[in-house]
Amino acid sequence: MRLTILGGGGFRVPLVYGALLGDRHDRRVDELVLHDVDAGRLGVIERVLRQMAAGREDAPTVTATTSLDEALEGTDFVFSAIRVGGLEGRTCDERVALDLGVLGQETTGPGGLAYGLRTLPVALDIASRVQRLAPDAWFINFTNPAGMITQAMQTVLGDRVMGICDSPLGLGRRAAHALGLPGDATRFGYSGLNHCGWLQTLVHDGVDVLPTLLDRPDLLLTTEEGRLFGPEWLQTIGAIPNEYLYYYYFTREAVAGIRGSAETRGEYLLRSQADFYRAVGDSPDRAHELWVRTRRERDETYMAEARSEGEERDAADVAGGGYEGVALALMAAIARNERAAMLLNVRNGTTLPGLPADAVVEVPCVVDASGPQPLSAVPLTGHPLGLVQQVKAVESLAIRAAQEGSEALALQAFALHPLVDSVVTARLLLAGYRERIPSLDAVFR
Ligand code: G6P
Ligand code: MN
Repeated sequence: MRLTILGGGGFRVPLVYGALLGDRHDRRVDELVLHDVDAGRLGVIERVLRQMAAGREDAPTVTATTSLDEALEGTDFVFSAIRVGGLEGRTCDERVALDLGVLGQETTGPGGLAYGLRTLPVALDIASRVQRLAPDAWFINFTNPAGMITQAMQTVLGDRVMGICDSPLGLGRRAAHALGLPGDATRFGYSGLNHCGWLQTLVHDGVDVLPTLLDRPDLLLTTEEGRLFGPEWLQTIGAIPNEYLYYYYFTREAVAGIRGSAETRGEYLLRSQADFYRAVGDSPDRAHELWVRTRRERDETYMAEARSEGEERDAADVAGGGYEGVALALMAAIARNERAAMLLNVRNGTTLPGLPADAVVEVPCVVDASGPQPLSAVPLTGHPLGLVQQVKAVESLAIRAAQEGSEALALQAFALHPLVDSVVTARLLLAGYRERIPSLDAVFR
């Protein structure tokens, strides 16, 4: 089986290759094709993979190309983790918003909208190439904002494209572990949108044990979410939110935290990434070792704005299963027709009442050779439903804005986002992003 990774020069690609190397099944990926628009970064990552494969006769073959069509033609699976505008773009997503006093973050709030707007035309172009060159391929989208991008790509590829994220599985597992239960023996009643969902039930042996966990502040505090939101807030809302909900529930503190740090996440990653690619250039033989070290530091500093100074995030916690595990499990379930339950971003249909049928939602699914099917989900009611409806309306406006090249629709998207507090701010955001990010400006020309 062949897997094509778009964004193949990206820093997380060795995680995926590591997962492939660990797969001993006879029906597994034995051919990996990396595609990237940046030949230099592609070469560096290829080198890391070669060092990982050294001495392993059964290692999947690796080829790298800067030709998108060549990478896609006849492939079985596509895994997309591209970053249109690069990390420079990410820093602009953050700074333009922060300078206006609103949240500047990779996927949530106006920063995520800016990121989405410039990514949509590229994602739609990729979708039509896949349709032409690999019509039977399954497309696994990790490119953020994953819900919005997956929804747009479904207009071309239908249900063959699904979105993945590591955060809901991580949340479910952390909650199960806090109660001393193995993650795979519990059913996660998680529903919402990507980076905007809630664990509302945790079923073990037919019993919902989430209330037991919510009653125990000491156990809640052993989880990332318990520390992030505080046990009292989790008890108040009666659910455990995805960690990205921090930006909604604690907007003011999040904005102050990011503005108060010396650099944003994007700025930190830009620096750490430049150091890494440069260091590998200087010492090519140490590529893998340098990658391991850089990765550890990146994991430990993840979401630093949400933690008090000196408090480090457990690297194992970020990595726990990780997105490469989700991607591999998904491919295995499809290729081997092994039914597996997973939390995925798929077409809503009638799964979550109150949302449009074509909205992409993040819900429990069962996956087999015919692809993912949403299972019956815990419905959203009250404030989660209201928030999700508003955010989805904004995402749908952004998709139409990109499809039609419409400034008016883009302005509406910014203005109606729950984390943008004025139409005046929305105008300034759109103008600021267009001025600083050429690929975003190009959407309207
Ligand atoms: C998690 C999220 C991803 C997000 C990433 C950011 O894995 O699920 O959607 O892109 O964190 O991590 P970074 O190290 O790039 O800040
Ligand atoms: Mn994610």
